[in-house]
Amino acid sequence: MIERLQKTAEFVKARRATTEATGYVNPDFDYRWKHTLRVVQYGKQLAEAEGADVEVCMSACLLHDISKFDAEEYGVEHGRVSARIARPFLETLGYDEKRLNNICYSIAVHVDDKSDFEHPVTLESKIVSDADNIDRFGAYRLLIQFSETGNYEKLVEKAATRLLTLKKYRAGGIMGTAKGEELFNRQLDVQIHVLERLVEDSQLTIEI
Ligand SMILES: [Fe+2]
Ligand SMILES: [Fe+2]
Repeated sequence: MIERLQKTAEFVKARRATTEATGYVNPDFDYRWKHTLRVVQYGKQLAEAEGADVEVCMSACLLHDISKFDAEEYGVEHGRVSARIARPFLETLGYDEKRLNNICYSIAVHVDDKSDFEHPVTLESKIVSDADNIDRFGAYRLLIQFSETGNYEKLVEKAATRLLTLKKYRAGGIMGTAKGEELFNRQLDVQIHVLERLVEDSQLTIEI
């Protein structure tokens, strides 16, 4: 398992290197690779907790955003494009067809639950989406989202708006697995706590 996953990591890094060799510079690439590594770890944790195929989850997590290392932007298609990039590579690793299709399906649907090939929803596909969402709601992303907001009033206003969305997510129903929900809620609680404090503190800004 570890050898195939290492080869997969090398494949993703090579995709990035090929793009950069053309002289294309994208400051997002560094973040993207680190995000990918964290999603792999979340995917592993979820797979173990949920009794899923750990290697399928880790492989799909490694490859889920590979198309983001291209110079081209694919938007909501980036999951399906990533799956198409991954398939011929995965075929060289000797996975049986069922696992190979499960990896490709899990990659394809991670953005918007839509695949461009027929496949039933799998526990592994839910795990890859959950793992991605857990990292997307980490403390780092909160700091980035609010780092370029401008003045204090705008920041507080943005925090109040964002809190409505976060609390909606906190009510549940958007994650695919129980362990995913647990880890996602842990992320949400941190964000909600910080933003609530920001809004509360702003209410003390009273002219004497
Ligand atoms: Fe993605
Ligand atoms: Fe991602």
